[in-house]
Amino acid sequence: MKIPPVKGTRDFYPPDMARRNWIIDGWKRVSVRNGFEEYDGPIFEYLKMFQIKSGDEIVEQLFSLTDRGGRELALRPEITPTLARMVNQQISSLPRPIKWFSVPRLFRAERPQKGRLREFFQWNVDIIGVDDVLADAEVIFCALDYLQEVGLTPADIVVKISSREMLAALLLTIGVAESELEDLYAVLDKRSRLPGDTFEQMLVEKVPDENKRKKIFELMAVESIEQINDLLDLTDAAKESVDELKHLFELLGVMGVADFCVFDISTVRGLAYYTGIVYEIYDKAGELRAIGGGGRYDNLLKQFGGPAIPATGFGIGDSVLAILLNEKGLLQKQLPSRKLNYFVACVDKVYREAAVKLTMKLRSAGFAANFSYKAAKLSKQLKQASDQNAGRCVIIGDEFRENKLAVKDMATGEQQLVDYDKFFAELK
Ligand code: HAM
Repeated sequence: MKIPPVKGTRDFYPPDMARRNWIIDGWKRVSVRNGFEEYDGPIFEYLKMFQIKSGDEIVEQLFSLTDRGGRELALRPEITPTLARMVNQQISSLPRPIKWFSVPRLFRAERPQKGRLREFFQWNVDIIGVDDVLADAEVIFCALDYLQEVGLTPADIVVKISSREMLAALLLTIGVAESELEDLYAVLDKRSRLPGDTFEQMLVEKVPDENKRKKIFELMAVESIEQINDLLDLTDAAKESVDELKHLFELLGVMGVADFCVFDISTVRGLAYYTGIVYEIYDKAGELRAIGGGGRYDNLLKQFGGPAIPATGFGIGDSVLAILLNEKGLLQKQLPSRKLNYFVACVDKVYREAAVKLTMKLRSAGFAANFSYKAAKLSKQLKQASDQNAGRCVIIGDEFRENKLAVKDMATGEQQLVDYDKFFAELK
């Protein structure tokens, strides 16, 4: 009986694993140089943890299970609730600001499509304990630091930035009730992914008043921060969040990444816990789903039973990123290829033991080494050495009786007879 892999999951054969590791190693390297420390949590948590504040979309996509003790659990669809739980648990002893990153394996029962899977990896970078917009700028910089390092430019990607706080103030001015905001965000977030009439139908359900809807459409058509002033009389709250947004753009300029960033009022984010600055990273051509997204979530720790501590951060998935890098020709050429320092061949099975011993000695000295399992024809063994991308091939032949080895440089083809002890003395 053949059992297929589960829909929306991936098998990582060695070349796929090399790609995955290259991406994740880069995430980790860039996080560390931006001053973040790594953390992780369990792959499953209590189901209710994801029902508190992640929003309906995530809740509908949960992989949930009941354990033998009758506890309702779920595979994590994101790590932000775990982060909030972990920080709350040790809040009095953790030095602040908390600058943490993680690369969790996540699970969402989404309809699998290009860039959307049921199991994926996501780079998370978060700052907890800083309410200054400088922290928002710093995490956006961190994302762009990585994206630039792998070769993406403002011609390839764009960070679309807005503020939920500002949108809330503007929607309240239009006459939307505070209690309707959260539901409205969920609809507005779907706008770019839905056919126009489906979106309008959903909006009618949330906002039956035609006049208000018209104003929402006008608002969502705004193309610059300045334009907002012309459209509406700003309340003090709205002015404050407009100023904060402007300040964010100034800081992104100071950090040298302004070319990647644009104001986009329709960026709302799907998750329910965001409270302030929000952003999403897209391919410039707009052909793919979001590469990543994040924002400020100043109430989440409190909603998880902790003190009111501000927080901001983002998540970038591995799958859309890999698709984009591949399309741009940036993936394959940067991948380190499999490297074996030595391949040990022997011309006759009488030298097998010597070959095994020599290989182990090389490995103990820190070199990646393999031997041939068969004393096949030397040409076959050399082919194996080259298939395994060996730098050198050590050939054990009859000269071994005089304590000598043939060492072949696989790149130049040059071969030398070397004294056994000298070979080990000069290893590098
Ligand atoms: P999110 O927007 O749900 O945010 O996910 C962030 C990124 O994860 C997406 O832009 C996408 O690259 C990737 N992603 C999401 N779902 C899938 C999927 N089904 N298949 C493949 N990739 C996917 C969050 O998860 C927030 N917790 C991020 C965050 C951290 N906000 C603050 N801190």
